[in-house]
Amino acid sequence: MMRRTDGTSSTKRLSTRTSGLLLLAGMALLLPGFAFGAALPQTDGQQHLGVASCASGVCHGSVKPRTGSDVLQNEYVTWSQRDRHRVAYQTLLTRESQQIASNLGLANAHEADVCLDCHADNVPAEQRGAKFVISDGVGCEACHGGSENYIATHADSATNHQQNLDAGLFPSDVAVERASLCLSCHLGTAAKMASHDIMGAGHPRLAFELDTFGILQPAHYAVDADYLADKWHSHSLTVWIIGQTRSAAATLDLIDARLDKGGLFPELALFDCQACHHAMSEPRWQADNGTGLPAGSVRLNDANFVMLFAIGQVVAPELAATLREQMLGLHQAVARRQPLAAPIAAIDNSIQQIEDRALATVTPQQAAQFLQALVNAGADGQFGDYVAAEQAVMAIDMLLNVADLRSQHGDWLDLVYTTVGDEDYYDPAQLARAMLEFGL
Ligand code: HEC
Ligand code: HEC
Ligand code: HEC
Ligand code: HEC
Repeated sequence: MMRRTDGTSSTKRLSTRTSGLLLLAGMALLLPGFAFGAALPQTDGQQHLGVASCASGVCHGSVKPRTGSDVLQNEYVTWSQRDRHRVAYQTLLTRESQQIASNLGLANAHEADVCLDCHADNVPAEQRGAKFVISDGVGCEACHGGSENYIATHADSATNHQQNLDAGLFPSDVAVERASLCLSCHLGTAAKMASHDIMGAGHPRLAFELDTFGILQPAHYAVDADYLADKWHSHSLTVWIIGQTRSAAATLDLIDARLDKGGLFPELALFDCQACHHAMSEPRWQADNGTGLPAGSVRLNDANFVMLFAIGQVVAPELAATLREQMLGLHQAVARRQPLAAPIAAIDNSIQQIEDRALATVTPQQAAQFLQALVNAGADGQFGDYVAAEQAVMAIDMLLNVADLRSQHGDWLDLVYTTVGDEDYYDPAQLARAMLEFGL
């Protein structure tokens, strides 16, 4: 099912971003000390002390936000009452999960690493502190890193953000890092993946967009002056682009590590689900689907790459053209079972270049340009696969907000959402017609 952010919450979020704050945010981009590629919490080697260690009333368990503090201090209440991560472990106890487990031949879901790796803070036993309980699900330290070395000092006013990072706090403020954190569970890694075996057993399909999901997760932090003073921050547009570049890069990692399962079929979860799963009475194959493959071919899930073609149109048209060529090569190589290392390395390089260019140049004033690039791509039939259409619609929603065009195009946005309302009966031609109705 397609999640929809409600315009009011994101508008509220945007309205707090006065131009002064944006200026500060721009500076944060240039500050030294933002190290990339931090170890993810699940493999950080630190003791995870448990949610109870963070949740006391004087720490993060205040019932109401506190004034005079750098952080809200009611993070625990927000997380425990409104955040789905709180119930991620409970989900493993439901009938649905028990059915998935039994279809997979597992005794149960709530003790299986294959489920706990994403539905809880599943660190090794020797890294679980005295108050750690697995039933906390995706708790504080699953995102913020094991607190062994920062718990005692991180609340001191004498300790700065960099010192916390050095002591093991995960840099979840930095979009590049945050993306790999969220994607590690919302897409998967070489080590943990919602494979087609798990999907076939009944697991819902995963779909993720960094900015949208960042809004859907109830915020337990406020981007205020002291936040901006020492943390990374940028506008939705940049966060969306980073989400696309990092998702594309993570997809390549998965293709590299998991595509070949050694059997007759490759890992089917890496392909467009609806390429196989759609009503036969509704044919949807298109000759110009960007893969160069003949009718009847199974296509890689290239949704994030399709977004990057549109993003590239605005930030670096020559890179977008290169990426398009390279993707044709990858589709062909996968279909013919040719070696993938060289095409993957080349694509990774293009993604990095687009990301660097975007980080250096993109401003929120360009939102309408990105919107037009997506609308053109849609009208041109480039969102032939449902997964690409789903990504496009999440992006269009965000871009209308940033460009301050949402109220003006509210009816059109509703129309666009109806085109992706049912993934089993998605009709690319209907979406293309909707795109043609857009006029800035
Ligand atoms: C340790 C794994 C893990 C990490 C890391 C993680 N998530 Fe999740 N997330 C989950 C699981 C599992 C669920 C589903 C929980 C349930 O409903 O049982 C979920 C659910 C969500 C939902 C609710 C989706 C819905 O359909 O309502 C949002 C929004 C979300 N995550 C956003 C994020 C964001 C943003 C990040 C990164 C900052 C993130 N998640 C990091 C595992 C994770
Ligand atoms: C790669 C990470 C990953 C793995 C492995 C994984 N899940 Fe999930 N699961 C998720 C995420 C993320 C969501 C939320 C999807 C969303 O709403 O966007 C989810 C959602 C679910 C849901 C639907 C929850 C709801 O709120 O409707 C069920 C049920 C579920 N998972 C059960 C399982 C079981 C059982 C296993 C083990 C066989 C498992 N999952 C393995 C990441 C994972
Ligand atoms: C699914 C991931 C996730 C979970 C679970 C999570 N957080 Fe966060 N948290 C974030 C993100 C993303 C941010 C915003 C980026 C940042 O400041 O690092 C954040 C920010 C914060 C901040 C920074 C506020 C500021 O003004 O600097 C605090 C404090 C915090 N979280 C505490 C907690 C506590 C306590 C828990 C558990 C009760 C928790 N978080 C659970 C992802 C998560
Ligand atoms: C190459 C074609 C192909 C692709 C791509 C593919 N699947 Fe499948 N899927 C199958 C086949 C074949 C079955 C077995 C159907 C059966 O048992 O009747 C299946 C079974 C399933 C089932 C169980 C359905 C049932 O009727 O019991 C689910 C759910 C599922 N797939 C989800 C997905 C998701 C989600 C994706 C994308 C991440 C995906 N599939 C990608 C071919 C595919």
